[in-house]
Amino acid sequence: MVILMKERISEPGVIDDRELAEYYNLMARRYMKIPCQRVLKRVIAQGIRKGKILDVGTGPGIFPIFLCKALPEFRIKGIDLSPVMVEIARRNAMEEGLEERIEFEVGSAYCLPCENRSVDLLLCINTLHHLDQPIEFFNEVERVLKEDGGFVIVDFHRDTHPLVLGFFNLLWRLFFRGHPKAKDGFMESVQSSYTRQECMDLLRKSNLKRWRITTRTVEIWIESTKNF
Ligand SMILES: C[S@@+](CC[C@H](N)C(=O)[O-])C[C@H]1O[C@@H](n2cnc3c(N)ncnc32)[C@H](O)[C@@H]1O
Repeated sequence: MVILMKERISEPGVIDDRELAEYYNLMARRYMKIPCQRVLKRVIAQGIRKGKILDVGTGPGIFPIFLCKALPEFRIKGIDLSPVMVEIARRNAMEEGLEERIEFEVGSAYCLPCENRSVDLLLCINTLHHLDQPIEFFNEVERVLKEDGGFVIVDFHRDTHPLVLGFFNLLWRLFFRGHPKAKDGFMESVQSSYTRQECMDLLRKSNLKRWRITTRTVEIWIESTKNF
């Protein structure tokens, strides 16, 4: 089956259905180890070794919890628009005994709960496709980052090759077959993601200046460039 995704179709932003959020948490805890390691690599490549990390759209907090364990010099704040996700993320951090170094709160990507120039490293993982006003978000990233701060944003991209899409969709449906809504989630998320060209156009209109974009299979990485 050839899947063409010309138009972006917005996906409802907040995962606030408790049953779906708990299922997402279960799946993320089970399958996110390799993605976490890949994000860690990109974080290390930023060359920032300590300070404050802000994770936007943190969901159940699997990524910041992994990073918190791997990078002991950082304090981490994760924010999410969904109070249910924040509650789950706090529970996960507590189970790992990390509540002293990691905090979660309800917050919006469009109004980051941080002072100007106060964040060393900003992360946004699998969340950009939920944002219908990405320029507003990019401007917020620019506002809160320190002069020498870095960012790593990763998401799906809508110009993924149809064969690659078909393959990943099959895998997704296999892993997420236990939930009627979640099993369609991959295609819905890709459909609401941005193409590489759209990302470049949006970034050029934003206040963020030093960035680079790379695409790989279904992923698009948008990263600050000072160290590249
Ligand atoms: C697909 S999940 C990704 C969660 C996590 N980053 C991960 O990869 O496991 C996207 C998350 O973004 C949150 N979200 C959606 N719109 C948001 C917004 N405007 N501001 C903050 N969080 C948002 C959703 O509630 C959801 O938890």
